[in-house]
Amino acid sequence: MTVPRHEFLQAMRRVANSVAIVTTDGAAGRHGATVSSFCSVSADPPSLLACLRADSRIARAVSGNGEFCVNVLEHSAHELAERFAGRADRQLADRFTQVAIVTGAGRPAVLAAATAAFCCRLVDTLASGSHLVVIGEVVEVRAAGGRPLAYLDGGYASVSLPFPSSQR
Ligand SMILES: Cc1cc2nc3c(=O)[nH]c(=O)nc-3n(C[C@H](O)[C@H](O)[C@H](O)COP(=O)(O)O)c2cc1C
Repeated sequence: MTVPRHEFLQAMRRVANSVAIVTTDGAAGRHGATVSSFCSVSADPPSLLACLRADSRIARAVSGNGEFCVNVLEHSAHELAERFAGRADRQLADRFTQVAIVTGAGRPAVLAAATAAFCCRLVDTLASGSHLVVIGEVVEVRAAGGRPLAYLDGGYASVSLPFPSSQR
């Protein structure tokens, strides 16, 4: 027996997550989508995972291309997060139109709005419930600094500076 879906979702609203745009490119085409369900898996080797709705274009494109980049967004990039969640798809043929890209021709795009970017080679997938868990080994990182964008209680938030006593 699992808990009712709405109870699960209600409790998950209390969890603060960073917001990222997963990008991919290659034979299966260029695509990008906003995600909050991603985390590190291991430092040996450096790897991370993201949970993508199995019937989404991003899941199909990442599976087909075999590589992806997790662009953790800087705190002012909430409009970009909305765009890559498909909110402007009716007006925009391509989500990448006029989006500043650091590197990416033919490779998963590293976005200028990323406070950190993790470029990965897809090494494993796991189908679980409605989602596909994609696991990538990190082949390149870019850390630009700045504060990350967070998602909490159904809205965007900015992370405040560390407590004075916290260890760094
Ligand atoms: C803040 C935020 C977080 C999201 N997190 C996820 C996520 O972790 N996994 C996912 O599959 N979709 C997530 N979405 C929804 C996708 O961004 C959206 O469905 C997107 O259009 C991907 O579908 P597509 O590739 O078919 O366009 C999130 C949306 C928002 C606004």
